[in-house]
This record gives sequence, C-alpha cells and structure tokens, in this order.
Amino acid sequence: MNAVEIEEAISQLADQPFDPVNFPYAFLEAFGNKETTIKRLRAGASNKSDLGGVLQTSNIHIKVCAEGEVTKTLAALRESPSTIRAKAKFILATDGQTLEAENLASDDSPVVCAFKDFPDHFGFFLPLAGISTVRQISENSFDIRATSRLNRLYVELLKDNPEWGTSARRHDMNHFMARLIFCFFAEDTDIFIGKGLFTDTITQMSARDSSNTNTVTEALFRAMNTKIAERDREGLPRWSNSFPYVNGGLFSGNMDVPRFSKIARSYLLHIGNLDWTKINPDIFGSMIQAVAEDEERGALGMHYTSVPNILKVLNPLCLDDLRAKLAEAGDNPRTLLNLRKRMAKIRVFDPACGSGNFLVIAYKAIREIEAEINKRRGEPEIRSEIPLTNYRGIELRDFPAEIARLALVIAEYQCDVLYRGQKLALAEFLPLRSENWITCGNALRLDWLSICPPTGTGVKVQADDLFGSPLDQAEIDFQNEGGETYICGNPPYKGSKYQSPEQKDDLKGVFKSTNAGWKSLDYVSGWLIKAKEYGHHTNSAFAFVATNSICQGIQVPELWPHLLRDNCEINFAYTSFKWSNLASNKAGVTVVIVGMSNCSRSDKRIFGTDDQGRTAVRTVQNINAYLISGPNIFIQARSSRPDNIPGMDFGNKAVDGGHLYLEREALKELPKEIINNFVRKIYGASELIKGTPRFCLWIADSEVEKAAGNTLIASRLRLVREMRLASEKIATRRGAGQPHKFEERRQRGGEEIIALPRITSENRDYLPVGLLDSHTIVSSQLFAFYNVKVFVVALLVSRLHWVWMATVCARMRTDFSYSNTLGWNTFPLPTFTEKNMADLTRCAEDILLAREHHFPASIADLYDPDAMPEDLRQAHERNDEVLERIYIGRRFKNDTERLEKLFELYTKMTKTKGAA
Ligand SMILES: C[S@@+](CC[C@H](N)C(=O)[O-])C[C@H]1O[C@@H](n2cnc3c(N)ncnc32)[C@H](O)[C@@H]1O
Repeated sequence: MNAVEIEEAISQLADQPFDPVNFPYAFLEAFGNKETTIKRLRAGASNKSDLGGVLQTSNIHIKVCAEGEVTKTLAALRESPSTIRAKAKFILATDGQTLEAENLASDDSPVVCAFKDFPDHFGFFLPLAGISTVRQISENSFDIRATSRLNRLYVELLKDNPEWGTSARRHDMNHFMARLIFCFFAEDTDIFIGKGLFTDTITQMSARDSSNTNTVTEALFRAMNTKIAERDREGLPRWSNSFPYVNGGLFSGNMDVPRFSKIARSYLLHIGNLDWTKINPDIFGSMIQAVAEDEERGALGMHYTSVPNILKVLNPLCLDDLRAKLAEAGDNPRTLLNLRKRMAKIRVFDPACGSGNFLVIAYKAIREIEAEINKRRGEPEIRSEIPLTNYRGIELRDFPAEIARLALVIAEYQCDVLYRGQKLALAEFLPLRSENWITCGNALRLDWLSICPPTGTGVKVQADDLFGSPLDQAEIDFQNEGGETYICGNPPYKGSKYQSPEQKDDLKGVFKSTNAGWKSLDYVSGWLIKAKEYGHHTNSAFAFVATNSICQGIQVPELWPHLLRDNCEINFAYTSFKWSNLASNKAGVTVVIVGMSNCSRSDKRIFGTDDQGRTAVRTVQNINAYLISGPNIFIQARSSRPDNIPGMDFGNKAVDGGHLYLEREALKELPKEIINNFVRKIYGASELIKGTPRFCLWIADSEVEKAAGNTLIASRLRLVREMRLASEKIATRRGAGQPHKFEERRQRGGEEIIALPRITSENRDYLPVGLLDSHTIVSSQLFAFYNVKVFVVALLVSRLHWVWMATVCARMRTDFSYSNTLGWNTFPLPTFTEKNMADLTRCAEDILLAREHHFPASIADLYDPDAMPEDLRQAHERNDEVLERIYIGRRFKNDTERLEKLFELYTKMTKTKGAA
C-alpha cells in the first residue's frame, strides 16, 4: 500500500462507528497487513499479547480498553514483558473516545488525541507500513493528509475530465488546484468571513448528484475575481457576495472548472473538512507538487527537501550574518532600525525554486528577525517592511511555480498573524498583489538580471544597456538601491549521461562565454556559472546544493577555473553528505553545498561531519574546488607518474559478445590438454571481490590453428568473428580477423597481477586490491599492475590513497569510479628510501598473510566494514602508520589533514616536474 491508500483507509476507519473487538485488526489492515496475517492474529496463533490485546511481533501492541482507562492501559502496554519480548515498535491504547500511542523506537512525542482525529497523526504511524520516515514527516501529518486527499481528488477529476490531463489543459488544471488550496486555507483562517464558508457554500448550493458542482465553484471563483460593487452587473449570484475580492492573478484568466462526479464532490468536501490552519507552506508546497506528476503521485512527494537541509544553505549564506547583527544590535534602536532597513532590501532568488521551499524558509526566517527587531524597538504591531516580492524564483514546471507563489502568500499571512495578530494580518491581506515574482521558465535560458534585477546603484544602467530590460526595472531597482541579492537553491543535478538533448543545449548556451568542456559536466553547473556571471554586475552571493561529482575528478578542471576567477571565491562549503529527504527509505544523492561570492571574506568556513556524525565547522583561509582548505589547484589527468613508481595498466577488453568466456558446463566438454593450453581463469570486478573466477579462451597467436582443431573452440571463434563483423566500430570490425584474441590485450599471460576494480563501493574502508596468480587474466573491469613488487599494495590500500581517490576520481552515486590517470598517476608520494620500501613491503605482506589466515574468505567477506577480522584491520593500521610516518613523521589526525598534505605535495610535485 502506498501512503495515499493508507491515509484513505485510516480516515475511513476513524469515520466509522467504533467497534472495540475489530478495531485492532481493522487498524492493522489499514496499514497494509494481508488478510492471512490478520486471520492468524485473530486465531491467536501469532498474537503475542499478554494483556488481552493484539500484539504483532516487531510491530505494534494494541489494546482497546474501558472508557477513561486509556492512559493507564498505555502504561501497562509499555511495561508489558510481551511488548519488550516481541520487540514491538509501537503501543496504542484506545477506548473509542480518545487514543494514545507511542513509538518506542524513537523519541517522537506520543500521540494523545480524540479517537476521530487519529488520522491527523498519520505520519506518526507510517513506519507501521514499512514507510520509515524521519521526524519531520510525523510532525507534519497535516501536510501529508492534505496532499493525500488532493491527490485523490486530482485523479478522480482526471477520470471525468481526461482532456484536463492533456498538455493543453494541464495549466488550467494546476491553476484550478491552486485556487482550491487557497480557498481551503482562506475559509479556515478567517480570510473568508465564516469558518468553512467555501466548503459549506459548495455543500449547500451544489446538488448532491454533483451535476452543478463545477458551475457553483466557477461562480465562486468569478466572484473572487470581481470587486463586490461589480458583481451584480457581472450576473453573479447573490450567495457569492459573502466572498471577498481576492484576485492577485490567482482568480484571473480562465475560470473553467472541471466536471465533478459524485465521488469527486465528496472528496472536495472532505478536503474542506481538514483543518487548513495547520498548513506548513515550506513543506506542503514541495509535497503538493507530486499531485501533478503522474509517476510521483502515490509517493506523496516524500522525497522533498527537508528543512534542516535547506537551512544548511540559507544559514551560512545570509541568515547567520543577520542573526549575528541582531545579537550585536542589542536594544540599540538605531542599529536595529538600520538592520531592518537592510533586510527590507534583501532579495533572495532561487532560480530552480520548485514550489518555493527555499524562498518560504528564507522569508519566514527574515520575518522572525524583523519581528524581534520590532519587539525590541517597542513597535510589535507595525507593518512588515519585508516585501514578499523580493523572494523571487524561476521554475520550469507550471504547477510548482503556481504553488510557490501561493506558498509565499500563505507564509506572509501566517507571519502577519504570528507577529502582528490576526486582525492586522486580515486587514492588509486582500486583495492579493498581482505582480508575479515567480517566473515559469527555463532558468538556463532566461536572463536572471531582468527577473531579479541587481540592486546596486551602478548596475541599474548596465542592466538596461546590456539586456534591454523592461522600463519599470529602473523603478524597482531604485526602490531596492543598495540592497543585497542572495541566490540559492538545489537545481537539478543530472549527470551528463542523463541529460536530454535540450538540457545539453542549455549547458552549451550557458558555457558559450567560457571555453569550458561542458559536455562532461552535471546540469547543475549551468546554475553555478550563471550565478557567477550575475555577480559581474553586482555584489552577490550564491549557494547551491550540487552533486558532489562537480567537486571531484574530471569535472573540477573543466568547471572550476571558470568559477574561481573575477574575485569569485568559495566562502563556505559543506563537504559530501547524503541529501536525505523525508522518506528515509529512499536513497538520497550525495551532495555538497558551495557558497560563493565576489566579496572576499576572511572567515571562510568548511562544514563537515565528525566521527560522531555531528556537523563540525572549520574556519580556513581558502577553500578550493575540492572543498579543501588550500590553494586553488585543479588536478588534471596524467598519462604517467612523475617518479619511478610503477604505472597502473588496464585489464583486457574482450569485445567478444561473450563468446570467449566459458562457463563451467562448457569446460566439461573440453579435453584436459585443451583446458591446460587455452583456458585461463579470468577476473572482473565482482569475481575479484567474491573470489570466484570465470574462465576464458586465451590463445597465443601461434596456436590458433591448434586451438581451432577443437570444435567447441572453432565455433566460439566463428561467433566472435561474426559478432565483430556486425559491429559499427571500425576497431571492432578490424578485430574480426583475430577472433581468438581479446580486442584489447594488455597481458601476454603468465604475469603476477595486482588488480583493483574500476568501480568500487564507498562503503568499504579500504580499496579492494587483489593479488592474482600467473595463470590469470584480468578483464577490463579491473585496473592492473603486471609483474610489479608487492610494495605497491601497501600504497594502494592505504588510507592516504583512499582519500586521494575519493577526492580526485569521479563518483557515481555511492561508488567511486577509479581512474589510473587521475587517481594513481597524480597520487603524491614522498621519495622512498630502501628502508622505507622494505618496511612497506613487510606491511603489504602482513596484510596478505592476514587475509590468508581467513582462507577461503573473499575480499567481500574480509572487507565488510561491520565484520572485518581484527588481525586484518591491525595489519592495515600498521601499514597506514608506517606510510604516514614516512610522509610526516606521525599519523595524520584525520582525513582532512591527509588531504591537505596531499594537496600541498601535489602542488610541489607539479611545480618541480612542470606537470599537471
Ligand atoms: C531538485 S528540485 C528543487 C526544488 C525545490 N527547491 C525542492 O527542494 O523541492 C529542482 C527544480 O528545478 C526545476 N528545474 C529543472 N530544470 C529547470 C530549468 N532548466 N529551469 C528552471 N527550473 C528547472 C525542477 O522542475 C525542480 O522543481
């Protein structure tokens, strides 16, 4: 069951008359338990309750009790030995009047509510359906329920009005939904006079058979677009007069309303019955987007960005500074006034704003500071000076753009109610402003200067000259003279492989002014370049969440030289972390946050995670493109090492359609002599890690004829030839003449091999390097050293090499994509003495011996981070100790120190060798 279905089921359960006997089973059923599971519980077979309730192992202990006994019963459930034994995560007690529940596995506050309201705590119970969520989701049950119900209405309306789902009418549908949401909010917050006015009017005026629900709704929408005095003339019904004039663009344009079925009408009324005062515009907006996305609907938009993550961008970008200024100002009325004036001129601009969550959060935070200023100045009720229109965005999709504006309007109203009281909030709320400050369009094609005109005086003229901006810009500009602009957001990441042709074109356009090789860059780079260029015209600061790959590997030398120029510097950065979203069961992407500006700051900050998972901050002098404290360097791939340390080669690339590989079954058909002469073990990445080789034909050029004497081999060679001849690639077709050979042969056969996978998981603590015997072939999934001393292993598996690789090689989701030219050839090594080499050789041998002790454990078993044998870990520790002492005479304190040293050595290495 998905979250929408669960919400529907528990809402139905709460609406039905309470049935004490069946309630526990119905509750479990609503959370997706199968009929057979319920049957077994009813029969008692799987019911572990010692209190006469229903206890489902590892899930929940429920007890229905006598009236007034709920709290006592919950305590008994908590104390019950069965609850503990059966590892119940939840306990729940109800008498049909009230309901209390607790999540024993988290410190979320318990639920205590009227029975009929328990669906309001829908998010709290979601883990019961295997949908594990982080705290915020349970705290925002209203937003989930509202989204869920709007979801159902949306789907139902599309059933009756399929044309509204077409691209031609999507906009109308989205606009209609936005109007509805506004009406639901307005009727619960006294913006409409009379609680429930909108829902009640529809209930009363529209027929139960739903035949005129659309015309009644349309009349109300038209009324909200018409000043009261003009309504008679417009032929609007008298009952619409109790609705205020709203407009502000929300109620203008096409007033069509889709037809309602009886079900759709009842959904509409149900949604109206929710308590919309609880809406949380920063969260709701993001969730509601999912309603308009066919693939996202069932998921309730749970992968929206969490508020703490958004604050990681906004706090260091601007809010920390404003709060610090507030603290400094104390009670000094003049300083406080200046701060308020400054804030009134701040623009926050999110050029990929979705439904405006960054903007809403920034606006709310700045209003909070303003309210504190007003309180300290003794004028708590004065009108806010923070213009909502200074919170600007661009969004590609129509519905989120619509919702972003609505979310900001709701946020403004809520702030007014909170800080100035409802009376004043109401007095100034309507009609809504008609300016549209959220632009629906492609941010990489639009001119940001005309959407968010820069605020400095000198710039006004430039903007007009350069971009032919609309005339009214000068005025806006003037009003905002001397203001600051903060650009922020989490633009789409999209690696180069996943970009559409249009997106590639977008990037091409953005990078036109640079000579960057944009083709390998993530889509998000376009936003960084545009934000940086925006700063050519004004002082501005920007901070974006981006895929960590833009700060690693080949993207760094492509992108960053164009960003770190014209005084543009990284002022703060969050090093790689998981961009978790509210559905914690969904893997988030690994991201970084980079905050840049063209106004240099001395206190540059790097935020990272310490060993305990807490955020740790360091103040540094410079942050480079790898988000490391150090000079701005861009590590380029090198074709060879600058010293006498062996180079790393590739494995062998078959390009054989699989025909040179032999399964064990095929081996049975071959005589021993043929196997001995022409068959080898072959390792790819998974075979190396699991220790389970496959087999392949490996035939010397001089022995082709002899090998082809075997019918199986002959048929395989024919298949390879045919496959290669059919290829579009010239090199492959050329290889058809030598079908006995891998297309790229890197070994002769007979070499001792040290191998490592091209793709390696970030979850291990060490690079999975393997030693393979001389009867082995390595495939192109591996990098290899052929016939080199085991000393190299000590370097390869070191922590230093790991952190270097993790920084300079590319990352693919949660894996590293190793590169010999970037990871190995650039790896800064000290000059080793004979003694150093001997010590490191011993360390490498000890590691290999420790592995031997656990034969036949594979690399996968041995390097499982949770089950690594202690002697092996110790051997690695010794290896790191010996190597690190060679670098700096002691162990490094942490990876940051390791990297900083490596960067320092790299700088020296490239200077002395004139490389890079
Ligand atoms: C990762 S989302 C972030 C939205 C919002 N801040 C959030 O957390 O939900 C990126 C947003 O960028 C929008 N987008 C994608 N390509 C765009 C483009 N070329 N121009 C403007 N917006 C774009 C997407 O529709 C999406 O809403």
